[in-house]
Amino acid sequence: MILLTGGTGYIGSHIAVELLQAGHDVAILDNFSNSDETVIERIESITEREVILYRGDVRDTLLLTSIFQSHDIESVIHCAGLKAVGESVKDPLAYYDVNVYGSVTLCYAMQQAGVKQLLFSSSATIYGVNAQPPYTETMARGESSSPYGTSKGMVEKLLEDLSDSDPQWSIAVLRYFNPIGAHPSGLIGELPQGTPNNLMPYISQVAAGLLPELLIYGNDYPTKDGTCVRDYLHVTDLAVGHRMAVAALKKPGVNYFNLGTGSGISVNEMVEAFVSATGMNVPYRFAPRREGDLGAFWACSKKAERELEWRAEKTLEDMMVDTWRWQQFSTKTKRSH
Ligand code: WQD
Repeated sequence: MILLTGGTGYIGSHIAVELLQAGHDVAILDNFSNSDETVIERIESITEREVILYRGDVRDTLLLTSIFQSHDIESVIHCAGLKAVGESVKDPLAYYDVNVYGSVTLCYAMQQAGVKQLLFSSSATIYGVNAQPPYTETMARGESSSPYGTSKGMVEKLLEDLSDSDPQWSIAVLRYFNPIGAHPSGLIGELPQGTPNNLMPYISQVAAGLLPELLIYGNDYPTKDGTCVRDYLHVTDLAVGHRMAVAALKKPGVNYFNLGTGSGISVNEMVEAFVSATGMNVPYRFAPRREGDLGAFWACSKKAERELEWRAEKTLEDMMVDTWRWQQFSTKTKRSH
């Protein structure tokens, strides 16, 4: 069985579907701070399999201990964490508490239970403000532009120290680039609380008429069209990467993998791709740069291709069509409350 923390979140729920459909048994631990219980029913209806759910917090040692005592957990995929860059600047303690202390608590419970196979959900943001793209896993971690990024880098470091102290640990650190899109069923997807920070949900809410227009933060960057460039990958491709990484969790030590497509797309190109894939209108205007944004970065994902036999398969059009289907479903659902 695999314990999946944060398994009802945007990324976690897609990982749960992928694991269950591949025949794994999955237990989810989630405190629902950024999701809700309906996601469990949706995961079960997509996969026609049962999920074991523990409603609780990854900082709860007693709960973690009882989970490891109740199930034969072979490995843990740790997605539970706070992930909003702007929020982390306003509330850094919450980010170090949940993301760092939460990871320490989880690793202690795993150590006590003798479970030493771990996948950690990390982020391209750890490469820092001075890294030159394409990012490769051999690059050192750089100075982060937010407490969110710093907390991810701290967990990577503590996992290295844990592995150095006990070679029985087999740890894969997956550095996500920009996951977007939704499961093709339209039943699970991103559920941003309040106004979305991220580009994709913002575009789809403008198209749905929930927001008046998109502000494009900066068109004076040294990029192909002046707008920021990122490596967007389909969230289902990201989920497949986790399944492949679990299968490779045999080597001792900490192994890093970039999960990205290997190519960069600009904000302008994202808007154009969404409009041409959906036929919807997305009014926008250029606004000043957003604090902390980097002009351009994208992955070198050759290591994941080589060692995990993984590569992102879905196209930009798939990402847009699947995002829009989810938006229409979730907007309808919202109205039905
Ligand atoms: C993408 C581009 C914006 C909104 C962050 C975190 C990363 C991960 C994903 C957690 C940028 C531009 C956005 C808008 C815009 N989070 N933009 N108007 O900043 O690359 O990554 O979210 O894991 O760790 O750093 O993603 O989607 O916020 O922005 O112009 O209304 O879209 O300036 O260039 P980002 P994003």
